[in-house]
Amino acid sequence: MYLLPIIPLCVIFCVGTTLSTPVPEYEKFLENPRYLNYDELTNLFRKLETENTGLVKLHTIGRSVKNRELWALEINSNVNNRTLLTPMFKYVANMHGDEAIGRQLMVYLAEYLIYNYGKVERVTRLMNTTDIFLMPSMNPDGFENSEEGQCESKDRYVGRENENHVDLNRDFPDQFEPQRAGTLLSGRQPETIALMTWIISRPFVLSGNLHGGAVVASYPFDDTSAHRTCCVESRSPDHDLFKKLALTYAENHQLMKKGDACSNENFDKGITNGAYWYEVKGGMQDFNYIHSNCFEVTFELSCCKFPFAKELPQEWKNNKEALLSFMEAVHWGVKGLVRTEGGDAVLDGDVVVVGLGHNVTTSNRGEYWRMLLPGKYEMYAVAYGFLPSERVTVVVEEGKTTIQNFTLKHEPVEQGNFKDLRSVDTDPFDEYGFVIHDNSIFKHHNYDELTRYLQFYHTMYPNITKLHSIGKSVQGRELWVFVISNTPNEHVAGKPEFKYIGNMHGNEVVGREMLLYLIKYLCERYGIDERITKLLNTTRIHLLPSMNPDGYEISKEGNKHYMILNVMITEANKCFF
Ligand SMILES: *[C@@H]1O[C@H](CO)[C@@H](O)[C@H](O)[C@H]1NC(C)=O
Ligand SMILES: *[C@@H]1O[C@H](CO)[C@@H](O)[C@H](O)[C@H]1NC(C)=O
Ligand SMILES: *[C@@H]1O[C@H](CO)[C@@H](O)[C@H](O)[C@H]1NC(C)=O
Ligand SMILES: *[C@@H]1O[C@H](CO)[C@@H](O)[C@H](O)[C@H]1NC(C)=O
Ligand SMILES: *[C@@H]1O[C@H](CO)[C@@H](O)[C@H](O)[C@H]1NC(C)=O
Ligand SMILES: *[C@@H]1O[C@H](CO)[C@@H](O)[C@H](O)[C@H]1NC(C)=O
Ligand SMILES: [Zn+2]
Repeated sequence: MYLLPIIPLCVIFCVGTTLSTPVPEYEKFLENPRYLNYDELTNLFRKLETENTGLVKLHTIGRSVKNRELWALEINSNVNNRTLLTPMFKYVANMHGDEAIGRQLMVYLAEYLIYNYGKVERVTRLMNTTDIFLMPSMNPDGFENSEEGQCESKDRYVGRENENHVDLNRDFPDQFEPQRAGTLLSGRQPETIALMTWIISRPFVLSGNLHGGAVVASYPFDDTSAHRTCCVESRSPDHDLFKKLALTYAENHQLMKKGDACSNENFDKGITNGAYWYEVKGGMQDFNYIHSNCFEVTFELSCCKFPFAKELPQEWKNNKEALLSFMEAVHWGVKGLVRTEGGDAVLDGDVVVVGLGHNVTTSNRGEYWRMLLPGKYEMYAVAYGFLPSERVTVVVEEGKTTIQNFTLKHEPVEQGNFKDLRSVDTDPFDEYGFVIHDNSIFKHHNYDELTRYLQFYHTMYPNITKLHSIGKSVQGRELWVFVISNTPNEHVAGKPEFKYIGNMHGNEVVGREMLLYLIKYLCERYGIDERITKLLNTTRIHLLPSMNPDGYEISKEGNKHYMILNVMITEANKCFF
């Protein structure tokens, strides 16, 4: 009733205006254009996070040489709990510290998305369906060493490189270069290590790497096995998809699509294969594709690396549509869940497109995303310990995401079904599965009894066991480790080492006794039961029945009062210090 006088007004003003002209987009950030330095950027991102809870989350994925945070701003309508099957997207800018446009564009993009959410339908849809990560600077030290107005890199690449004078886009592992000594991470820069870890550990689907000094979209591979400096196309298994992704950016960038924005440049449609243009060894783009599920394309945004800030509004206009369209491409192809028959997620399974030499693997929630161009594909999923799924035909249509789930069946295992290696007809085992029946083992073994028990089995089975102590408890008791294997005394290359630790809490004793029974079981069955023989032939097993022999000695059989015992254990320790 009370609303009646208001409604006619609203019809005239509100509905009338929204129908005729679209809602103006928020682009206030273009006023008074300037580059934000590290501190300003940090403050702005903190503010965006605080003022937009649930929509924005600030992450640091590591630190630069000079301890600056490598900020990544996550933007999604459900930022605290990514909705299942929502793909993760990232832009990484300013890897070369003096290539500054991408850095400031990430600030603009963040504000554009956040302030237009719920107002501009395209932005709302993007944020509802995509988990977006914007990293304005992978090289904040380099940026601080760079100068506005410098179109080319300074002497000795100060600014381009990180604080240690390393070009970060040459610091990643390269598929065609011989392996360095040590691990994949050895000897690399902190910025590189942070990005490598981030890329490998999170299920990113698509990524853009923003540079400057040219205007072109450059796609994998960046390197060849031919070791030529240029002009050899290095195709990845997803060559056509990468080309289309690069085109998606270039076509939507008024200068890039012409291919000749800077002098001496002539790129067909504004895109190029990386290695064809010039070879980059140790680049981030190839690393994404080779070592993770993420597809990355490199975008060179401007002829001048660090143009004056007055150019920034025009740069936003040049790149806005391209930045948005490329993000939307994360939804191309097929996605789904890989689960067991019981509905549990299958982790780290392979999702295979038949005939395409690049698999994607499932996330820790069993999700996968396989970017694909429109077409018909044959697919299946497989994971360790499971039988491959059936092959299914999947149709991918333009502008749609196909959903295809897979269910995997466990590989059958011989659960306790032993094959007797001797030629005897009768069951050689007692009701507990032991060869030598001995009811006296079913009691609690205190420290002295445990020691004798272990020595006994080592004496009886010297060829497949080793008994040693890995140290002493507070009260001087040995921490006995019993090793069982057909090679108990040394590590054999390729043979995995396994351990069980029992009785870490002195009053939790079942594990301790179980390991003693396991020793009897394994020793007695070696050479008799094929399953156990195979196990000991292929594995070196270490059993520490008691990690806390002192705690055990002061625990009482039948006691359930954990708290009281815990206090006693602590008190006992105090006496000895
Ligand atoms: C996240 O969302 C899932 C459902 O999608 C829910 O089961 C889970 O409890 C949520 N976790 C948190 C921490 O809110
Ligand atoms: C975005 O999600 C919100 C909340 O779930 C919903 O109300 C809205 O309709 C969605 N908008 C678009 C464009 O997807
Ligand atoms: C993809 O996965 C399948 C099944 O695990 C495997 O046979 C094939 O070698 C993998 N392909 C690549 C390129 O890794
Ligand atoms: C795939 O699994 C998801 C999650 O359980 C479910 O919502 C969806 O309907 C399934 N899709 C198909 C095509 O089976
Ligand atoms: C243990 O090894 C020795 C030396 O190789 C061998 O003579 C002996 O038969 C083996 N004993 C058992 C029980 O396998
Ligand atoms: C286990 O290894 C021994 C030699 O160490 C070999 O004689 C035996 O055949 C192997 N048995 C099985 C089941 O692998
Ligand atoms: Zn660059």
